[in-house]
Amino acid sequence: MFKTISIIACFIATIALGTPVVAQNNTENESTSITHKMYLDMKLGKLHIEGDNAVVDALILQRHIPITYEYIATLMRTPNAFGEGPACIVCHSSNDPNKSYRGLDLSSCEGILRGATEAPARPVIYPGQRGTNLIVHMLQDNRMPLGVPFFQNIDTPAINAIGDWINAGAKNDENFTKNVLPLFSDPEAFGGEAACIECHESFRDPPSFNEVNLTSYDAIMTGAFSKTRKKEGKPGKPIVVPFDADKSPLFLRLTKNRMPPGVDPGADINHPNIMMLSRWIEQGAWCK
Ligand code: HEC
Ligand code: HEC
Repeated sequence: MFKTISIIACFIATIALGTPVVAQNNTENESTSITHKMYLDMKLGKLHIEGDNAVVDALILQRHIPITYEYIATLMRTPNAFGEGPACIVCHSSNDPNKSYRGLDLSSCEGILRGATEAPARPVIYPGQRGTNLIVHMLQDNRMPLGVPFFQNIDTPAINAIGDWINAGAKNDENFTKNVLPLFSDPEAFGGEAACIECHESFRDPPSFNEVNLTSYDAIMTGAFSKTRKKEGKPGKPIVVPFDADKSPLFLRLTKNRMPPGVDPGADINHPNIMMLSRWIEQGAWCK
């Protein structure tokens, strides 16, 4: 049994390793260099460098340049790397929760792979995946209501009412109608300057950001981007995961601060360094 597996593994390894060796001996190798391809695309008028993040986009992301851990390490150590604020490692440099927020160590590759060690201990990245990485969410997702300062208390009756409602199954019951739904139209409920429904009143964006509609039970359960996703034959992106507040964007947006804390909510959520960090994760989050 094991012998068969190792023979198969050996065979696969030969194929995998064999291919680049052949390519290296190929006389056309030079024509496949990324510099050569770039010049070729320039000649053919296929290289478009336009817009704010144009160079990173056209010369790094679109060309699938491998992002090294070396670069990620630099970002973690650099102030203002993802938007104005102190470097990540000032607050996240050890797995000891007495020294480092959430016991999260962003100062080493192993630390990033290990994730938050304080309860609830959890990964902040899933190597090879896009879209599910907590670290990227923490760089892009503003705390709600938009503009609320990061030091605003998260242990409040309004926030707890929403967390408890989700953890009890997010039912359309009397508790929801009486104690949860009215919070979204109350400008004072969450300590911001506007009620949630001032920015989330319908499925249309604009005026309703992310097509989030917080005016009724059915609208909330429809999720974000329902109109846009319908065109692709997909349902809305859920903002409530029944029985699990910690996985529900509706609750996370009330309790988790965008990093670094205090960053202007208007700061670019597609900052080139956020894009390159995501790419490093998608490419496997290699430490070397
Ligand atoms: C001034 C201190 C400070 C800085 C600087 C800082 N953080 Fe945080 N970070 C926190 C605090 C406090 C929390 C926990 C509270 C929260 O989630 O809002 C946290 C939570 C997190 C979490 C969530 C971990 C979990 O499991 O809940 C991630 C991921 C994170 N930070 C990443 C970063 C990144 C990336 C940077 C650099 C851009 C950064 N942080 C900069 C203070 C900081
Ligand atoms: C001043 C306008 C404003 C107010 C008030 C506001 N939001 Fe938002 N909301 C936004 C913007 C802008 C975005 C998209 C940008 C982002 O993701 O940070 C957003 C995104 C969201 C999302 C993310 C949906 C997704 O894509 O997963 C949720 C959930 C949300 N808001 C809930 C709330 C709740 C709950 C309140 C009230 C406590 C609230 N918002 C108040 C502007 C606002």
